[in-house]
Amino acid sequence: MSTKNKLLRFAENLSLPNVFENYSFSDPVLYKSLHDKVDFKGRWNELYFKNDFPITLELACGGGEYSLGLSALFPQKNLIGVDIKGARIWRGAKKAFEENNTRIAFVRTKIELIHHFFEKNEISEIWITFPDPFLKHSKSTKRLTSPFYLSLYKNILKHDAIVHLKTDDTNLYQFTLEVIHEDPDFILLESNEDIYRTDLIYPELELKTYYELKHLEQGKRIKYIRFQYKA
Ligand SMILES: C[S@@+](CC[C@H](N)C(=O)[O-])C[C@H]1O[C@@H](n2cnc3c(N)ncnc32)[C@H](O)[C@@H]1O
Repeated sequence: MSTKNKLLRFAENLSLPNVFENYSFSDPVLYKSLHDKVDFKGRWNELYFKNDFPITLELACGGGEYSLGLSALFPQKNLIGVDIKGARIWRGAKKAFEENNTRIAFVRTKIELIHHFFEKNEISEIWITFPDPFLKHSKSTKRLTSPFYLSLYKNILKHDAIVHLKTDDTNLYQFTLEVIHEDPDFILLESNEDIYRTDLIYPELELKTYYELKHLEQGKRIKYIRFQYKA
């Protein structure tokens, strides 16, 4: 995409009512527009969604395909897509806005900052959809299922919250199984190395993201892990 198109999308993000952003580590406060700060931490349902539905986060949401799909499948869930790439978020945010879907929001930020924007016990479920696998061992702490990130999620998850990972990457899949095994606060509920070879027991697994479609075209196997926060 051209730089001009990206800049147009960044500008439009700030005018969409369902996009909030901040990726500053020194001033981690969400903004609605260039100058309007919002503080929804612990009060997303009261101040933004205006309902009592449980909140699901889609981390590394890209264009938000899972947020949109889950929202359609589960009318009694609120969805928040999180990603740092504004031009990708724009696709999902624009679609949700055009569909008048007020149960979806997007936060453009670094996932490392999420504990500034959500309160302990505020999040019922997390989907991590096709995150970058960061294959080099030296970069393993950047994987969104590394102990560092799981410790961040613990700051916002409810007891019994479910975390899902969908990936095409065998290393990330194995790595995540090991991390969960080592962490007494999480229990593994399910793992599947090739979900489309088996009968899918969860209809939401049929949803496909932009990257997932590309992986499937290349004949890759899609892997899935479901685990639960028990602390
Ligand atoms: C491979 S893409 C997957 C996008 C989408 N889930 C899909 O499957 O089409 C990975 C996404 O993770 C986002 N991402 C990676 N690390 C991140 C971080 N630390 N904070 C926010 N976004 C991150 C990238 O911006 C990118 O959009």
